[in-house]
Amino acid sequence: MKAVQFTSNSLTAFRLTELPDPKPGHGEVLLRLHAATLNYADVAVATGAFPGATFPMIPVADGAGEVVAFGEGVDATALGLAAGDRVVPHFMPGWQDGAMTPRNVAAMRGITLPGSLADYVAVPASSLVALPPHLDFVQGAALPIAATTAWNAVRSASLRPGSVVVLLGTGGVSIFALQFAKASGATVIIASSSDEKLERARQLGADHLINYRATPAWDEQVLKLTGGRGADLVVETVGEASFTRSINAAAMGGTIFTIGFVTGTAASINLLPIIVKALRIVGNSTGSVADLAAATRAIAAHRIVPVIDRVFGIADTAAAYAELSAGGRHFGKIAIAH
Ligand SMILES: NC(=O)c1ccc[n+]([C@@H]2O[C@H](COP(=O)([O-])OP(=O)(O)OC[C@H]3O[C@@H](n4cnc5c(N)ncnc54)[C@H](OP(=O)(O)O)[C@@H]3O)[C@@H](O)[C@H]2O)c1
Repeated sequence: MKAVQFTSNSLTAFRLTELPDPKPGHGEVLLRLHAATLNYADVAVATGAFPGATFPMIPVADGAGEVVAFGEGVDATALGLAAGDRVVPHFMPGWQDGAMTPRNVAAMRGITLPGSLADYVAVPASSLVALPPHLDFVQGAALPIAATTAWNAVRSASLRPGSVVVLLGTGGVSIFALQFAKASGATVIIASSSDEKLERARQLGADHLINYRATPAWDEQVLKLTGGRGADLVVETVGEASFTRSINAAAMGGTIFTIGFVTGTAASINLLPIIVKALRIVGNSTGSVADLAAATRAIAAHRIVPVIDRVFGIADTAAAYAELSAGGRHFGKIAIAH
Protein backbone atom coordinates (compact mmCIF):
# COMPACT_ATOMS: atom_id res chain seq x y z
CA MET A 1 0.00 0.00 0.00
CA LYS A 2 0.92 3.65 -0.37
CA ALA A 3 1.81 5.32 2.93
CA VAL A 4 3.58 8.34 4.33
CA GLN A 5 6.26 7.58 6.88
CA PHE A 6 7.55 10.07 9.33
CA THR A 7 11.25 9.40 9.89
CA SER A 8 12.47 11.78 12.63
CA ASN A 9 11.46 14.78 14.74
CA SER A 10 11.25 17.37 12.02
CA LEU A 11 8.35 19.07 10.27
CA THR A 12 9.77 18.00 6.90
CA ALA A 13 10.83 14.39 7.62
CA PHE A 14 8.09 12.70 5.59
CA ARG A 15 8.57 10.11 2.86
CA LEU A 16 5.93 8.68 0.55
CA THR A 17 6.59 4.96 0.31
CA GLU A 18 5.18 1.48 -0.41
CA LEU A 19 4.52 -0.81 2.58
CA PRO A 20 2.88 -4.25 2.87
CA ASP A 21 -0.90 -4.12 3.37
CA PRO A 22 -1.79 -4.70 7.05
CA LYS A 23 -3.86 -7.78 7.97
CA PRO A 24 -6.68 -7.44 10.51
CA GLY A 25 -5.81 -9.33 13.72
CA HIS A 26 -8.18 -10.77 16.29
CA GLY A 27 -10.95 -8.28 17.03
CA GLU A 28 -9.78 -5.94 14.26
CA VAL A 29 -11.27 -4.49 11.10
CA LEU A 30 -9.29 -3.61 7.97
CA LEU A 31 -10.14 -0.13 6.69
CA ARG A 32 -9.40 1.54 3.36
CA LEU A 33 -8.62 5.08 4.52
CA HIS A 34 -9.62 8.01 2.32
CA ALA A 35 -8.84 11.11 4.36
CA ALA A 36 -7.05 12.48 7.40
CA THR A 37 -7.18 15.81 9.20
CA LEU A 38 -4.42 17.46 11.16
CA ASN A 39 -4.55 18.49 14.78
CA TYR A 40 -2.14 20.71 16.65
CA ALA A 41 -1.07 17.51 18.45
CA ASP A 42 0.23 16.06 15.13
CA VAL A 43 2.55 19.05 14.84
CA ALA A 44 3.64 18.52 18.45
CA VAL A 45 4.44 14.86 17.61
CA ALA A 46 6.40 15.98 14.55
CA THR A 47 8.49 18.45 16.54
CA GLY A 48 9.03 16.05 19.44
CA ALA A 49 7.02 18.20 21.89
CA PHE A 50 4.53 15.32 22.26
CA PRO A 51 6.49 12.24 23.33
CA GLY A 52 5.92 8.58 22.50
CA ALA A 53 6.55 8.23 18.76
CA THR A 54 9.17 5.81 17.44
CA PHE A 55 10.47 6.09 13.88
CA PRO A 56 9.67 5.32 11.16
CA MET A 57 5.94 5.65 11.80
CA ILE A 58 2.76 6.43 9.88
CA PRO A 59 1.58 9.81 11.19
CA VAL A 60 -1.75 11.57 11.81
CA ALA A 61 -4.19 10.52 14.49
CA ASP A 62 -7.48 11.31 12.74
CA GLY A 63 -8.87 9.71 9.62
CA ALA A 64 -11.93 8.22 7.95
CA GLY A 65 -12.46 5.35 5.57
CA GLU A 66 -14.50 2.31 4.67
CA VAL A 67 -14.67 -1.22 6.02
CA VAL A 68 -12.86 -3.78 3.84
CA ALA A 69 -12.49 -6.97 5.90
CA PHE A 70 -12.94 -8.43 9.37
CA GLY A 71 -10.40 -10.24 11.52
CA GLU A 72 -11.16 -13.31 13.61
CA GLY A 73 -13.49 -12.85 16.55
CA VAL A 74 -15.32 -9.85 15.09
CA ASP A 75 -19.10 -10.37 15.11
CA ALA A 76 -19.87 -7.93 12.31
CA THR A 77 -23.63 -8.52 12.55
CA ALA A 78 -23.68 -7.81 16.29
CA LEU A 79 -21.69 -4.62 15.68
CA GLY A 80 -23.95 -3.63 12.77
CA LEU A 81 -20.94 -3.44 10.44
CA ALA A 82 -20.59 -4.58 6.83
CA ALA A 83 -17.96 -4.26 4.11
CA GLY A 84 -18.24 -0.86 2.46
CA ASP A 85 -19.55 0.92 5.60
CA ARG A 86 -18.13 4.42 6.02
CA VAL A 87 -16.53 4.77 9.45
CA VAL A 88 -14.28 6.85 11.66
CA PRO A 89 -11.74 5.04 13.87
CA HIS A 90 -11.14 6.72 17.23
CA PHE A 91 -7.48 7.60 17.77
CA MET A 92 -7.34 6.16 21.32
CA PRO A 93 -8.94 2.75 20.67
CA GLY A 94 -8.32 1.49 24.22
CA TRP A 95 -10.46 4.21 25.82
CA GLN A 96 -13.95 2.91 25.25
CA ASP A 97 -15.96 4.81 27.87
CA GLY A 98 -15.85 6.36 31.33
CA ALA A 99 -12.81 7.96 32.90
CA MET A 100 -9.38 7.89 31.32
CA THR A 101 -6.73 5.69 32.92
CA PRO A 102 -3.02 5.36 32.13
CA ARG A 103 -3.86 2.01 30.56
CA ASN A 104 -6.73 3.02 28.30
CA VAL A 105 -4.91 6.01 26.79
CA ALA A 106 -1.55 4.30 26.30
CA ALA A 107 -2.13 3.53 22.60
CA MET A 108 -2.75 6.41 20.21
CA ARG A 109 -3.06 6.30 16.43
CA GLY A 110 -0.44 8.46 14.75
CA ILE A 111 1.83 8.22 17.80
CA THR A 112 2.27 4.69 19.16
CA LEU A 113 -0.06 3.04 16.57
CA PRO A 114 -0.12 3.45 12.76
CA GLY A 115 -1.88 6.68 11.81
CA SER A 116 -4.07 7.78 8.92
CA LEU A 117 -1.63 8.60 6.09
CA ALA A 118 -1.83 5.14 4.52
CA ASP A 119 -4.18 3.37 2.12
CA TYR A 120 -5.06 0.74 4.74
CA VAL A 121 -5.05 0.34 8.51
CA ALA A 122 -6.18 -2.43 10.87
CA VAL A 123 -7.98 -1.09 13.95
CA PRO A 124 -10.01 -2.61 16.80
CA ALA A 125 -13.65 -3.06 15.73
CA SER A 126 -14.69 -1.49 19.04
CA SER A 127 -13.01 1.81 18.09
CA LEU A 128 -15.25 2.46 15.06
CA VAL A 129 -18.06 4.99 14.82
CA ALA A 130 -20.31 5.19 11.74
CA LEU A 131 -19.91 8.29 9.60
CA PRO A 132 -23.17 10.33 9.43
CA PRO A 133 -24.65 10.17 5.89
CA HIS A 134 -24.39 13.94 5.33
CA LEU A 135 -20.59 13.94 5.74
CA ASP A 136 -17.93 12.97 3.22
CA PHE A 137 -14.68 11.26 4.22
CA VAL A 138 -12.73 14.51 4.60
CA GLN A 139 -15.40 16.00 6.88
CA GLY A 140 -15.63 12.72 8.81
CA ALA A 141 -11.88 12.69 9.36
CA ALA A 142 -12.29 15.88 11.41
CA LEU A 143 -14.33 14.17 14.12
CA PRO A 144 -12.11 12.10 16.44
CA ILE A 145 -10.01 14.73 18.19
CA ALA A 146 -11.52 18.13 17.41
CA ALA A 147 -15.23 17.27 17.52
CA THR A 148 -14.88 14.95 20.54
CA THR A 149 -12.96 17.61 22.47
CA ALA A 150 -15.42 20.37 21.57
CA TRP A 151 -18.29 18.07 22.55
CA ASN A 152 -16.72 17.45 25.95
CA ALA A 153 -16.18 21.21 26.37
CA VAL A 154 -19.85 21.94 25.80
CA ARG A 155 -20.88 19.02 28.05
CA SER A 156 -18.52 20.10 30.84
CA ALA A 157 -20.50 23.30 31.42
CA SER A 158 -23.99 21.77 30.89
CA LEU A 159 -24.80 24.50 28.37
CA ARG A 160 -28.40 25.54 27.96
CA PRO A 161 -30.20 28.32 26.05
CA GLY A 162 -28.82 31.63 27.27
CA SER A 163 -25.48 30.26 28.52
CA VAL A 164 -22.51 32.34 27.39
CA VAL A 165 -19.53 30.67 25.74
CA VAL A 166 -16.18 32.27 24.91
CA LEU A 167 -14.04 30.73 22.18
CA LEU A 168 -10.44 31.71 21.49
CA GLY A 169 -9.31 31.59 17.87
CA THR A 170 -10.87 29.93 14.87
CA GLY A 171 -8.96 26.63 14.75
CA GLY A 172 -10.43 23.14 14.60
CA VAL A 173 -11.62 22.83 18.21
CA SER A 174 -13.02 26.37 18.47
CA ILE A 175 -15.10 26.02 15.32
CA PHE A 176 -16.62 22.69 16.41
CA ALA A 177 -17.27 24.25 19.84
CA LEU A 178 -19.04 27.14 18.08
CA GLN A 179 -21.26 24.69 16.20
CA PHE A 180 -22.10 22.61 19.30
CA ALA A 181 -22.64 25.71 21.47
CA LYS A 182 -25.10 27.18 18.97
CA ALA A 183 -26.88 23.81 18.75
CA SER A 184 -27.24 24.05 22.57
CA GLY A 185 -28.85 27.49 22.32
CA ALA A 186 -25.89 29.28 23.90
CA THR A 187 -24.66 32.79 23.10
CA VAL A 188 -21.18 32.61 21.57
CA ILE A 189 -18.46 35.24 21.86
CA ILE A 190 -15.46 34.41 19.67
CA ALA A 191 -12.04 36.06 19.52
CA SER A 192 -9.75 35.91 16.50
CA SER A 193 -6.76 37.73 15.04
CA SER A 194 -8.64 38.28 11.78
CA ASP A 195 -11.79 40.28 10.95
CA GLU A 196 -12.32 38.09 7.90
CA LYS A 197 -12.33 34.94 10.05
CA LEU A 198 -14.63 36.64 12.55
CA GLU A 199 -17.08 37.32 9.72
CA ARG A 200 -16.97 33.61 8.79
CA ALA A 201 -17.61 32.76 12.44
CA ARG A 202 -20.59 35.12 12.42
CA GLN A 203 -21.98 33.26 9.41
CA LEU A 204 -21.72 30.04 11.48
CA GLY A 205 -23.81 31.65 14.24
CA ALA A 206 -21.32 33.49 16.49
CA ASP A 207 -23.18 36.28 18.31
CA HIS A 208 -20.31 38.57 19.30
CA LEU A 209 -16.94 39.02 17.59
CA ILE A 210 -13.71 40.32 19.15
CA ASN A 211 -10.48 40.90 17.27
CA TYR A 212 -7.89 40.09 19.96
CA ARG A 213 -5.19 42.01 18.07
CA ALA A 214 -7.27 45.20 17.95
CA THR A 215 -8.69 44.53 21.45
CA PRO A 216 -6.00 42.75 23.49
CA ALA A 217 -8.16 43.17 26.64
CA TRP A 218 -10.77 40.83 25.13
CA ASP A 219 -11.74 39.69 28.64
CA GLU A 220 -12.97 43.20 29.50
CA GLN A 221 -14.95 43.19 26.26
CA VAL A 222 -16.58 39.87 27.31
CA LEU A 223 -17.58 41.44 30.63
CA LYS A 224 -18.98 44.47 28.81
CA LEU A 225 -20.98 42.31 26.40
CA THR A 226 -22.46 40.28 29.27
CA GLY A 227 -23.38 43.19 31.53
CA GLY A 228 -20.48 42.37 33.86
CA ARG A 229 -21.57 38.75 34.41
CA GLY A 230 -18.96 36.97 32.28
CA ALA A 231 -18.97 33.63 30.48
CA ASP A 232 -20.33 30.31 31.72
CA LEU A 233 -17.71 28.51 29.63
CA VAL A 234 -14.34 29.59 28.26
CA VAL A 235 -12.79 27.01 25.93
CA GLU A 236 -9.09 27.59 26.66
CA THR A 237 -7.29 26.56 23.49
CA VAL A 238 -4.55 29.19 23.71
CA GLY A 239 -2.77 28.63 27.06
CA GLU A 240 -0.01 30.86 28.34
CA ALA A 241 -0.98 34.10 26.57
CA SER A 242 -4.64 34.00 27.54
CA PHE A 243 -5.19 32.07 30.77
CA THR A 244 -5.33 35.09 33.10
CA ARG A 245 -7.79 36.82 30.80
CA SER A 246 -9.90 33.64 30.61
CA ILE A 247 -10.19 33.66 34.41
CA ASN A 248 -11.23 37.31 34.30
CA ALA A 249 -13.78 36.66 31.54
CA ALA A 250 -15.49 33.80 33.41
CA ALA A 251 -18.75 34.24 35.33
CA MET A 252 -19.13 33.14 38.95
CA GLY A 253 -19.28 29.34 38.92
CA GLY A 254 -18.05 29.35 35.31
CA THR A 255 -15.94 26.66 33.69
CA ILE A 256 -12.54 27.13 32.06
CA PHE A 257 -12.14 24.10 29.84
CA THR A 258 -8.36 23.89 29.76
CA ILE A 259 -7.05 22.06 26.71
CA GLY A 260 -4.70 24.12 24.59
CA PHE A 261 -1.21 25.47 24.57
CA VAL A 262 -0.71 27.16 21.18
CA THR A 263 1.11 30.02 22.97
CA GLY A 264 2.85 27.85 25.59
CA THR A 265 2.06 26.06 28.85
CA ALA A 266 3.72 28.18 31.54
CA ALA A 267 0.88 30.39 32.79
CA SER A 268 1.39 32.31 36.03
CA ILE A 269 -1.99 32.93 37.63
CA ASN A 270 -3.60 34.72 40.56
CA LEU A 271 -5.60 32.12 42.49
CA LEU A 272 -7.89 34.63 44.17
CA PRO A 273 -10.44 35.07 41.34
CA ILE A 274 -10.62 31.27 40.97
CA ILE A 275 -11.53 31.04 44.66
CA VAL A 276 -13.77 34.08 44.88
CA LYS A 277 -15.72 33.22 41.71
CA ALA A 278 -15.72 29.46 42.53
CA LEU A 279 -14.47 28.67 39.02
CA ARG A 280 -14.16 25.16 37.67
CA ILE A 281 -10.83 24.66 35.90
CA VAL A 282 -11.45 21.47 33.95
CA GLY A 283 -8.59 19.70 32.23
CA ASN A 284 -9.35 17.38 29.34
CA SER A 285 -7.54 15.02 27.04
CA THR A 286 -9.86 14.58 24.03
CA GLY A 287 -12.31 11.81 25.03
CA SER A 288 -13.37 8.19 24.72
CA VAL A 289 -14.93 6.23 21.86
CA ALA A 290 -18.29 6.79 23.61
CA ASP A 291 -17.64 10.57 23.59
CA LEU A 292 -16.82 10.43 19.86
CA ALA A 293 -20.07 8.50 19.29
CA ALA A 294 -22.06 11.08 21.29
CA ALA A 295 -20.44 13.98 19.40
CA THR A 296 -21.19 12.22 16.11
CA ARG A 297 -24.86 11.72 17.11
CA ALA A 298 -25.12 15.47 17.80
CA ILE A 299 -23.50 16.22 14.45
CA ALA A 300 -25.99 13.94 12.70
CA ALA A 301 -29.00 15.31 14.61
CA HIS A 302 -28.11 18.96 13.93
CA ARG A 303 -26.68 18.29 10.48
CA ILE A 304 -23.47 20.04 11.54
CA VAL A 305 -20.94 20.20 8.71
CA PRO A 306 -17.29 20.26 9.86
CA VAL A 307 -15.46 23.28 8.47
CA ILE A 308 -12.53 22.25 6.27
CA ASP A 309 -10.14 25.05 5.36
CA ARG A 310 -7.93 23.26 2.81
CA VAL A 311 -7.44 19.76 1.46
CA PHE A 312 -3.88 18.68 0.55
CA GLY A 313 -2.83 15.58 -1.39
CA ILE A 314 -0.85 12.89 0.41
CA ALA A 315 2.28 13.87 -1.56
CA ASP A 316 1.98 17.35 -0.04
CA THR A 317 1.97 16.21 3.60
CA ALA A 318 4.87 18.50 4.58
CA ALA A 319 3.00 21.49 3.12
CA ALA A 320 -0.11 20.56 5.13
CA TYR A 321 1.93 20.41 8.34
CA ALA A 322 3.59 23.73 7.47
CA GLU A 323 0.18 25.32 6.98
CA LEU A 324 -1.06 24.21 10.42
CA SER A 325 2.16 24.96 12.25
CA ALA A 326 2.31 28.47 10.73
CA GLY A 327 -0.60 29.18 13.11
CA GLY A 328 -3.40 31.58 12.39
CA ARG A 329 -3.66 31.03 8.61
CA HIS A 330 -6.43 28.44 8.66
CA PHE A 331 -10.09 28.52 9.72
CA GLY A 332 -11.35 25.16 11.00
CA LYS A 333 -9.51 22.05 9.85
CA ILE A 334 -6.69 21.20 7.45
CA ALA A 335 -7.16 17.88 5.67
CA ILE A 336 -5.15 15.41 3.60
CA ALA A 337 -7.14 13.29 1.13
CA HIS A 338 -5.92 10.04 -0.44
N1 LIG B 1 -6.57 18.52 25.50
C1 LIG B 1 -7.40 18.21 24.53
O1 LIG B 1 -8.37 17.46 24.72
C2 LIG B 1 -7.17 18.81 23.19
C3 LIG B 1 -7.83 18.33 22.05
C4 LIG B 1 -7.66 19.01 20.85
C5 LIG B 1 -6.83 20.11 20.80
N2 LIG B 1 -6.17 20.51 21.92
C6 LIG B 1 -5.28 21.68 21.91
O2 LIG B 1 -6.08 22.84 21.73
C7 LIG B 1 -5.34 23.82 20.99
C8 LIG B 1 -6.12 24.21 19.75
O3 LIG B 1 -6.21 23.07 18.91
P1 LIG B 1 -6.72 23.21 17.41
O4 LIG B 1 -6.54 21.89 16.78
O5 LIG B 1 -8.06 23.87 17.38
O6 LIG B 1 -5.60 24.24 16.89
P2 LIG B 1 -5.50 25.08 15.58
O7 LIG B 1 -6.49 24.59 14.56
O8 LIG B 1 -4.08 25.17 15.23
O9 LIG B 1 -6.03 26.54 16.04
C9 LIG B 1 -5.28 27.38 16.84
C10 LIG B 1 -5.88 28.80 16.75
O10 LIG B 1 -5.57 29.50 17.94
C11 LIG B 1 -5.76 30.88 17.67
N3 LIG B 1 -4.81 31.66 18.46
C12 LIG B 1 -3.46 31.65 18.40
N4 LIG B 1 -2.97 32.53 19.30
C13 LIG B 1 -4.03 33.08 19.93
C14 LIG B 1 -4.18 34.07 20.96
N5 LIG B 1 -3.14 34.67 21.52
N6 LIG B 1 -5.46 34.37 21.37
C15 LIG B 1 -6.53 33.78 20.81
N7 LIG B 1 -6.44 32.84 19.83
C16 LIG B 1 -5.21 32.52 19.41
C17 LIG B 1 -5.60 31.09 16.17
O11 LIG B 1 -6.87 31.54 15.69
P3 LIG B 1 -7.06 32.89 14.81
O12 LIG B 1 -6.27 32.64 13.56
O13 LIG B 1 -8.52 32.97 14.58
O14 LIG B 1 -6.53 34.04 15.61
C18 LIG B 1 -5.29 29.67 15.66
O15 LIG B 1 -5.87 29.39 14.42
C19 LIG B 1 -3.97 23.17 20.72
O16 LIG B 1 -3.06 23.56 21.71
C20 LIG B 1 -4.26 21.69 20.81
O17 LIG B 1 -3.11 20.92 21.14
C21 LIG B 1 -6.32 19.88 23.09
